[in-house]
Amino acid sequence: LGAALLAPLVATAADKPLVMGFSQVGAESEWRSANTASVKAAARQAGITLKFADAQQKQENQVKAIRTFIAQKVDVIAFSPVVESGWDTVLKEARAARIPVVLTDRAVNVSDPSLYVSFIGSDFVEEGRKAGRWLLERAAKNPGASLNIVELQGTVGSAPAIDRKKGFEEVIKANPKLQVIRSQSGEFTRAKGKEVMEAFLKAKDKKIDVLYAHNDDMAIGAIQAIEEAGLKPGKDITIISIDGVKGAFQAMLAGKLNVTIECNPLLGPQLMELARKVVAGQPVEKRITVIEGVFPAEVAAKELPNRKY
Ligand code: AHR
Repeated sequence: LGAALLAPLVATAADKPLVMGFSQVGAESEWRSANTASVKAAARQAGITLKFADAQQKQENQVKAIRTFIAQKVDVIAFSPVVESGWDTVLKEARAARIPVVLTDRAVNVSDPSLYVSFIGSDFVEEGRKAGRWLLERAAKNPGASLNIVELQGTVGSAPAIDRKKGFEEVIKANPKLQVIRSQSGEFTRAKGKEVMEAFLKAKDKKIDVLYAHNDDMAIGAIQAIEEAGLKPGKDITIISIDGVKGAFQAMLAGKLNVTIECNPLLGPQLMELARKVVAGQPVEKRITVIEGVFPAEVAAKELPNRKY
């Protein structure tokens, strides 16, 4: 519907390359670096001129970048929103300037969903559910045993942090012996993941059996904290994380991580195709999801050579 509304308004001359303004979250994780590389390479390959802005994990930088793209009269704006809320005003400005907006990777919470044309990205709630299901199955091997879980959340207010928490909780509540005893943001970075895990370990009031990290980078940071505390990650503490980056596969091969849930960052080619269709006024799906898997440590050696990020 959004594309249909905007279609007559966004004409580009046939001989002029399409210009995309892209506001990226930042460079907080291995996943994000792979996503940026995918977007840049796909734009080059598609002959699309990319105006790239790194928001350094700050919403105000993204709002500024979007306003700059509007002033530059780009053909299409794409962005991966740092957080879910607070986008109505700037998206209305883009609409007033007749520039279509597509979301990539993360969703927004807006009063009027027609403020963006389409959203391409993972189903983060399902990723949280997959993490929960893996733990439920593992816990079923030792029925009756209580497991204390600590959770490293992603960036506060971001779609993946909200949704991965929700999906995980939804599934683990089937077993009342699984209890999240602490949950705090590690901002999706290794450094913060390590710092928060250190604090969790220092509390010493309850034994920690499981770590659920909303991304691999925080899990890798936490692994360091666990080792420095004299414990064995992957053995003394079971570790579940999300993304499926190479670093996670290496940690699994070293026996330090138990499972990673895939979140595919290679969205560039689909994003460029979507942008072309949107600018050409062709109909597009409002929501485009990505198919993803679950990789337990047992398959890490076989899978590592196939990993592209
Ligand atoms: O939005 C996707 C998430 O953002 C990835 O899981 C995480 O690594 C990144 O920083």
